[in-house]
Amino acid sequence: MPNLPVVLDRTAADPLHRQLSAGVRDLVVDGVLPRGARLPSSRALAADLGVSRSVAEQAYDQLLAEGWLDTRRGSGTYVATAGHATATAPPRRLTPAEPPLVRLDAGTPWIDPRHGAGWRRAWREVSAATPPRGYDDARGLTELRAALAERIGRTRGLRVDPEEVLVTGGTTDGLRHLLDVLPPGSVALEDPGYRAAVETVRSAGRDVVDLPAGRPVTDLGGSAAAYVTPAHQHPLGLVMPAPDRLTLLASARAAGTVVVEDDYDSEFRYDVAPVPALAALDRRRVAYVGTASKSVAPSLRLGWMVPPPDLLDAVCRRRSARHDGVSWPVQRAFVALLRDG
Ligand SMILES: Cc1ncc(COP(=O)(O)O)c(C=O)c1O
Repeated sequence: MPNLPVVLDRTAADPLHRQLSAGVRDLVVDGVLPRGARLPSSRALAADLGVSRSVAEQAYDQLLAEGWLDTRRGSGTYVATAGHATATAPPRRLTPAEPPLVRLDAGTPWIDPRHGAGWRRAWREVSAATPPRGYDDARGLTELRAALAERIGRTRGLRVDPEEVLVTGGTTDGLRHLLDVLPPGSVALEDPGYRAAVETVRSAGRDVVDLPAGRPVTDLGGSAAAYVTPAHQHPLGLVMPAPDRLTLLASARAAGTVVVEDDYDSEFRYDVAPVPALAALDRRRVAYVGTASKSVAPSLRLGWMVPPPDLLDAVCRRRSARHDGVSWPVQRAFVALLRDG
């Protein structure tokens, strides 16, 4: 009898450690494992479930990095109670293959010259195609929205229909479209936080309210939206711990506030799999906003957004009325880049 009620499917494509971390996460979210509850050791859990110890260790490492679990030196693993100390991932080992000097300016991705061939292939493909005659669907290319929906589901744990995914001109463009359709009210943003988002909110004529970064958000009264970077707080680098995620969502529900999840660089975690998106915990409350600015280049001006279902139609109508779509060649090239990996 396993001492955690998790069922593993050995025939499934999903690796066992991912199934195990998902199962334990569900137990915490559902309250079966309450805050502060002690978990079995990885050795005992592995023995009970008939898996190797590394499967149990990887599952625990993932949940520790996500902030669902906590370790107390010498005394075992527990369901996290609060605070972001739990979200610290193990130190990353540098390999000799890495370049000896890297630019560390915030916001500037490393563009590897070895990717030049893929880039050229994508644009050759665009040059051979004919652009649509009229204004295309302002929501974005159908193939791109399908590829993005698949990718967001696979890498961020957020299951969405391609019809719910909108192609944008980047994070701030997505934010602008949301601000257009939100009810009146201020916008709460992390402090310190993303300056371009602050400027976008101010330009939309809305007041900015500071949310101290790294602290639980308990009151969103008066704010139409709260803008957060839960996977990797910008610029402090914190992962929002699980209890804080639940507190934020509860505060947003209580105040009728939409949470804008800026998921700008969640592709970059080398030690553990990316922490699932906040939007995966509450699709109705969270607007998920992604960008190619970190994984490809900010100069591309390409991003994507999954608005809450209640706002989707309003956003689409506005964009369509204003011919507010993203440049066709850029979208077309990005389809080719995604398809070629
Ligand atoms: C927190 C944060 N979000 C988003 C972005 C990217 O914004 P955009 O997609 O508008 O280029 C950046 C770029 O530095 C950032 O720091």
